[in-house]
Amino acid sequence: MPTDTLPNPGTNPEKNPDRSTGELIRLEQVTKQFGSNTVLDHLDFSVDAGKHVTLIGPSGSGKTTILRLLMTLLKPDEGTITVDGQQLFPASDKQVREVRKKIGMVFQQFNLFPNMTVLRNITEAPVTVLGMSKDEAVERAKGLLDMVGLADKCDAHPAQLSGGQQQRVAIARALAMRPQVLLLDEVTSALDPELVAGVLDVLRDIARSTDITMLCVTHEMNFARDISDQVLMFDSGRIIESGSPEKIFSDPELDRTREFLSAVL
Ligand SMILES: Nc1ncnc2c1ncn2[C@@H]1O[C@H](COP(=O)(O)OP(=O)(O)OP(=O)(O)O)[C@@H](O)[C@H]1O
Ligand SMILES: [Mg+2]
Repeated sequence: MPTDTLPNPGTNPEKNPDRSTGELIRLEQVTKQFGSNTVLDHLDFSVDAGKHVTLIGPSGSGKTTILRLLMTLLKPDEGTITVDGQQLFPASDKQVREVRKKIGMVFQQFNLFPNMTVLRNITEAPVTVLGMSKDEAVERAKGLLDMVGLADKCDAHPAQLSGGQQQRVAIARALAMRPQVLLLDEVTSALDPELVAGVLDVLRDIARSTDITMLCVTHEMNFARDISDQVLMFDSGRIIESGSPEKIFSDPELDRTREFLSAVL
């Protein structure tokens, strides 16, 4: 898939002097409870700009909760969340709207707008939220569709696409907002097995050819091994172990990590 047509959702840092370096995401002492269930307990972690960090861990350990906090779909009970030096929590509504523009997310369920064409799904937010001109949004959307291998599907509606194609549209839609951070939550889990590889290839391509920071929850351990700079092992809302993919997947310190990996690998 040609990446040189990518209309600059990232490219590389030399071409993108405005992009931040250093710490891009920071969670400090973040606590999140649902009723009496403390899902995250004074969690600290940070992600450097341009890095690809994967969260792994058992079901219910809090991985999605972290992404939802960053998307401001949930609010923490305590702590602070900072993105690119600007506070996302606590923050005024105005500041939240500004900071949110830096973050894109792709969900397990693609959540495309069913009544809009593929092209419109991608151009809608850049025009209405970023104030991009329609012509520019269309041009960028076409470039992104080309990048995800769907240049011929501009006029299709989501229901006319396979799950894998819909997910690739959802990825293009997220990139159309030029996010600095892309959050990915088990984006291939709802797909038929034969469609998974195509979506992972697109994500590998993005990881390789852009400087977008990626925070990724996945059960696709080979993919995680390929793209990650760092892997964080979660258990009960805590990071119990972190390291390079080689370290975590081949020689983890903790029995708990070993146990989890032997169950999913
Ligand atoms: N909206 C909610 N209301 C109540 N409890 C919730 C809500 N969202 C999540 N939880 C609880 O928070 C905990 C963490 O959930 P979360 O979805 O973050 O886990 P996860 O690590 O993403 O799991 P999975 O691998 O199954 O997706 C679970 O105990 C879950 O039941
Ligand atoms: Mg989850």
